[in-house]
Amino acid sequence: MSQDSFSLKNPNNGETTDLQVRSGTVGPDVVDIRKLYASQGVFTFDPGFAATASCESKITYIDGAQGVLMYRGYPIEQLAKQSSFVEVAYLLLYGELPDGEQLAAFEQSIRLHTMINETMLRLFNGFHYDAHPMAMVAGVVGSMSAFYHDTTDIYDQRHRDIFAHRIIAKIPTIAAAAYKHTLGQPFSYPRNDLDYASNLLHMFFAVPAETYEIDPVAAEALDLLFILHADHEQNCSTSTVRLAGSSGANPYSAIAAGIAALWGPAHGGANEAVLTMLQEIGSVDRIETYVAKAKDKDDPFRLMGFGHRVYKNFDPRATLIREACHKVLARLGRVDTPLFDLALRLEEIALQDEYFIEKKLYPNVDFYSGIIYRALGLPTSMFTVMFAIARTVGWVSQWREMIADPDGRIGRPRQLYTGPPKRDYVPITER
Ligand code: CMC
Repeated sequence: MSQDSFSLKNPNNGETTDLQVRSGTVGPDVVDIRKLYASQGVFTFDPGFAATASCESKITYIDGAQGVLMYRGYPIEQLAKQSSFVEVAYLLLYGELPDGEQLAAFEQSIRLHTMINETMLRLFNGFHYDAHPMAMVAGVVGSMSAFYHDTTDIYDQRHRDIFAHRIIAKIPTIAAAAYKHTLGQPFSYPRNDLDYASNLLHMFFAVPAETYEIDPVAAEALDLLFILHADHEQNCSTSTVRLAGSSGANPYSAIAAGIAALWGPAHGGANEAVLTMLQEIGSVDRIETYVAKAKDKDDPFRLMGFGHRVYKNFDPRATLIREACHKVLARLGRVDTPLFDLALRLEEIALQDEYFIEKKLYPNVDFYSGIIYRALGLPTSMFTVMFAIARTVGWVSQWREMIADPDGRIGRPRQLYTGPPKRDYVPITER
């Protein structure tokens, strides 16, 4: 193997192929296998994509061993402390931090797109009151392709910008409409004098009969959670958005596909599952039983909010959210403090356990986020919706990068076929 190529010998015919090795700015090198099938007639096999770089990207970087996360090169800790969600959205979309004028123009554009078509509101009446909000949000976001076909020429830069601003602005409005539908309360129209997080709180919690005071601690906590969830390189839902979008599909449909993928409990649905698990555990003296269940190979139970495909160290987002929990609960929490104490103790016990140490299982972003969402007054069924609102920014940024890539092709993986070889059809009377 030379320094910049990787030689692969085919044992069947003895032929060698030199595959190019490419280096990123940071992170492991990749072996470019694109010519492997043409030259050797073999595929690579990597179900779950644990050793596959599916694309080239300049957006987000993760070092799982060191517990590092950066958006466009900026460490998540710095963005969490100094930035805002809307500024982070600009950074992820356009690659650089905005100056004052650029940020003001971007914020204004997002504000001007917060309302949704009134007909779209009526779609909610087609859902039963107890429909899961993720099902409603995925459905209604998918329906946006039927409302905004004036700007879906994906090869037009202006159309792509309008799509991006529209979906980022409207997804909180759609989420709030889903929430109000489950409660049977009237929908609250957006207030464009408010910042992104405050407007969301207003749309969720304001009712026409009363004045709603936005708590700045709640808005700040929400903004922080949104920054931390905004992007996470080629995770399951983002890869879904890229794959769906690679066919040239309407971008709203690609985002709806991402929302559907996010819902699973191994991915964004874990924040809801963590709260359910903590409530089920109920008290510190039952933790050991649940840790034992998680370790039992014959029991499907897993400690929700623990483990990550990439992080084999602390998830930096979990560390930041745990810090924020202290502040939020001190101010708003009261009833949820015992749940937070239980989570802290569970983390402590799991991190001292040989099973979790050996498998490098640490708390992930979803372990503590639900405690904050609950303290803000959100029901568990809305937790993954909150994740989807924030991650929309990442999905859109990754989709834009993919569409603008001149080397972009439709995503079309191959397989190792292990089904029956060719056989002849047998008429039903002879079977
Ligand atoms: N509890 C108990 N054992 C676990 C856990 C857990 N939470 N996570 C992984 N393991 C074990 C697993 O059984 C396996 O053991 P063995 O090697 O003996 O078969 C080993 O650790 C490796 O697990 P894996 O399933 O092969 O790892 P993966 O990279 O395919 O899965 C994961 C990653 C996040 C899906 C998994 O850790 C998990 O199911 N965690 C719980 C759900 C969760 O918190 N998901 C949120 C992820 S972060 C946010 C997001 O992505 O949206």
